[in-house]
Amino acid sequence: MMCSFLQRLDKERLLEQKALVIWLTGLSGSGKTTIAIDFEKKLHQMGFKTQVFDADFIRTSINRDLDFSMEGRIENIRRMAAISRLFLEAGLVVISCFISPTRRIRQMARTIVGAADFCEVYVNAPFEVCEARDPKGLYQKARQGELKNFTGIDSPYEPPENPDLEIRTDQCSVSDAVNELIDFILPKIVFKE
Ligand code: ADX
Repeated sequence: MMCSFLQRLDKERLLEQKALVIWLTGLSGSGKTTIAIDFEKKLHQMGFKTQVFDADFIRTSINRDLDFSMEGRIENIRRMAAISRLFLEAGLVVISCFISPTRRIRQMARTIVGAADFCEVYVNAPFEVCEARDPKGLYQKARQGELKNFTGIDSPYEPPENPDLEIRTDQCSVSDAVNELIDFILPKIVFKE
């Protein structure tokens, strides 16, 4: 008898969901992590099996060898797109939160994951708003020259031209943002043969 690995569909059938990678891009302080936390909780309550990948954890663990040069960022995203793909193949709804600052970087992530399973969400707040929020005090450090290559200051952020969804976090509450995301994602992850 021929031996072969189980397919993604076998796993999706078991979990009764369609797998998807939801890729949140945006400036530091735009709200990616905040949205991801509540979004994941909501999906979980609805019975979906999920996995969040977030920069703060990843950059102090698997990717702690990488810096914030453009090369470091490309390698960070290359690895995280590959890992997101593995979890996708396991049938999960993956929520990946990385600045992913350039179009080229996001295009690479889309290609590695597979365009059909990749949803790009632009978590957008104006630079000035992110700088004023400064939840980790990093903008201040960057302004004082203590932090080099900081996104939006001395490292670029290219806004997505054609995101699958854009959420303006300076114009809505966290729960509004999460509801908007749920409405958009739900039809894509409900199980169908
Ligand atoms: S990315 O550009 O490679 O996608 P990533 O999302 O992993 O970046 O990491 C961003 C997080 O790292 C920020 O939210 C912030 O907490 C921290 N950080 C530390 N140094 C920098 C920097 N120079 N530029 C941007 N973020 C930084």
